[in-house]
Amino acid sequence: MPTMNVIIDCDTGVDDALALLFALRSSACNVLGITCVGGNIPLAKVTRNTLAMVEHARRDVPVYQGAARPLLAAPITAEYAHGNDGLGDIGFPEPQGAPATEHAVDYLIRAFMETPEPPHAPPLLITLAPLTNIALALLREPQLEERIPHIVMMAGGLTGGNTTAAAEFNVYADPEAADIIFRSRIPKTMVSLEPIRRDALLDETEVAQIEACSNPWCWAMGRLLRRNLIQLERLSGRHAPISPPDLAATAVALEPHLATTENRHVAIETRGEHTRGMTLVDNRRFRHLAPNAAPPNVAVVTAINTARFQAVVLEALLHDL
Ligand code: RIB
Repeated sequence: MPTMNVIIDCDTGVDDALALLFALRSSACNVLGITCVGGNIPLAKVTRNTLAMVEHARRDVPVYQGAARPLLAAPITAEYAHGNDGLGDIGFPEPQGAPATEHAVDYLIRAFMETPEPPHAPPLLITLAPLTNIALALLREPQLEERIPHIVMMAGGLTGGNTTAAAEFNVYADPEAADIIFRSRIPKTMVSLEPIRRDALLDETEVAQIEACSNPWCWAMGRLLRRNLIQLERLSGRHAPISPPDLAATAVALEPHLATTENRHVAIETRGEHTRGMTLVDNRRFRHLAPNAAPPNVAVVTAINTARFQAVVLEALLHDL
């Protein structure tokens, strides 16, 4: 089966790092480039962390720096969840490499305006961060609306958020950017908080298998997974499996059969006093009869096959290519 070409946009905190290690080691894809955006932590640390993961994966993939701040919103970060360095303050060594000189937005436009050599199709775009880079690219080059074949995004919530009661971090951090992307005709798959938390579970069994391997990517993955298991137990007062959002979204992107989806209209709230950044999913039973019902614009993931998710993560990390 020809592997698919992908581009990943990230704000490399802990779960982005897990997703990058997974994608870079997976035989299901060829990562053409990684674009960085300010989010979980400031852009400079995002870039450093991304370079560090590319090196731990023993891959040679270009890393591009993009927007340092959202389109309009005041910048927010999430060191409380990811640590001051964004990688759990575990003590990863400084990367040797440097980012490309080309801006991430210029790279995204170039990558999607090019016509790939057969049999390759245009790359799949996986977004694990606020959608600022993607929105800027679309505003700069409107033809991207026809050129980007599919975006699989870690974004939003079906019934609530994690950064506010209503909003998930990636959308809350830049609601205007998300609104631009969700209003676009680009085919989109939204992997949101609820199916991830319920289904995309990793526990001691999986983490111990990864920790048992001595290669650099398993070393990094094992340290980050173990840190999240410990952090979750400390926060919840009991042992529980972890569900890294970006790793789940990337697994769904590379292995679509993992997910069950429903086509829904999703609107981004940009003005609500209490709901700014909310992904409003239209689940009305007879919405097609409602005169004001907007047509579906997103494939919303409603379930993820837990066993298959665990299997594809272990296969990518433990299968030494
Ligand atoms: O809400 C989870 C998302 O926000 C993940 O992408 C995580 O990395 C943070 O950016």
